[in-house]
Amino acid sequence: MRGRSWWALLVILFAGAGVAAETGPALSFARAGAEARTLSLQQMKAAVPVSELAFFDPEYGKPKRYRGLALARVLELAFGPGWQGQDYTEMIFTAQDGYASVSTLEKLGEPGGYIVFEDSEHPGWEPVGRNHANPGPFYLVWTGSEQRTQHGYPWPWQLAKIELVRFQDRYPEVHPKGVGAASPAYAGFLTFKERCMRCHAMNQQGGKVGPDLNAPQSVTEYRSPAMLKAFIRQPSQFRYTHMPDHTDLSDADLDNLLDYLRHMANQRRQTVR
Ligand code: HEC
Repeated sequence: MRGRSWWALLVILFAGAGVAAETGPALSFARAGAEARTLSLQQMKAAVPVSELAFFDPEYGKPKRYRGLALARVLELAFGPGWQGQDYTEMIFTAQDGYASVSTLEKLGEPGGYIVFEDSEHPGWEPVGRNHANPGPFYLVWTGSEQRTQHGYPWPWQLAKIELVRFQDRYPEVHPKGVGAASPAYAGFLTFKERCMRCHAMNQQGGKVGPDLNAPQSVTEYRSPAMLKAFIRQPSQFRYTHMPDHTDLSDADLDNLLDYLRHMANQRRQTVR
């Protein structure tokens, strides 16, 4: 009995080591919750040419050099050439710690996006962000000077999973019901989705960096419109905070955001998960 368990343990150890050595870092891909496939770095490098990149990285605030794979080519490899088709509206990029950035599909087909797997100047990566995180093994970057997080381009580090979704199905609590696509509330929703959702939730769906803006109370119920607009545009005037300024949002953009927030105050989920 004793001998047999030892033997079984040895077999398990060898099998485990074999798998790890063979695959190395990997990314998983899913369609609306269903696991589609997992691709190892080796498999991706075999199918997509490696690009040498040099550009100003806003996450570091300085020029950086990396080796990476064009995002659109990796998506095509994982999901097939029709990945931008009709069935899905967004893609969710989830990091190892659960941080999720949601991005519309049309942005992701643009040139400039790369999944980088190596910092060319710092073997083993240079720490990034206020928590000095290691961005590897996969870090999503954009080389265009306008392709920044505040414009809806995802920049997750420690990228683990890429998922195709239909927004309404995945985030029904964030999607405004019963408003036309041309309404101010809908315009506000689009801004929320692009600029706020990676940090804020509505009805507990969305980001967890900042507070839920709708539950248990909507911010529109305890803050005046003027105060909200001033705060959203320039939180740095009020507090030392991790919320970025949004000085490029126009008065009309802010009014639309408030319309969306007020609409959502009437679409509050009664039962809190
Ligand atoms: C990078 C993360 C981040 C982004 C992006 C972000 N926020 Fe925030 N926000 C925070 C954090 C953190 C707080 C919590 C407290 C603080 O530091 O002010 C906050 C607080 C708030 C508050 C609450 C103020 C109060 O005390 O009542 C409002 C309203 C708000 N954010 C709206 C927005 C809107 C609208 C957007 C998009 C235009 C946005 N935030 C984008 C992180 C973020």
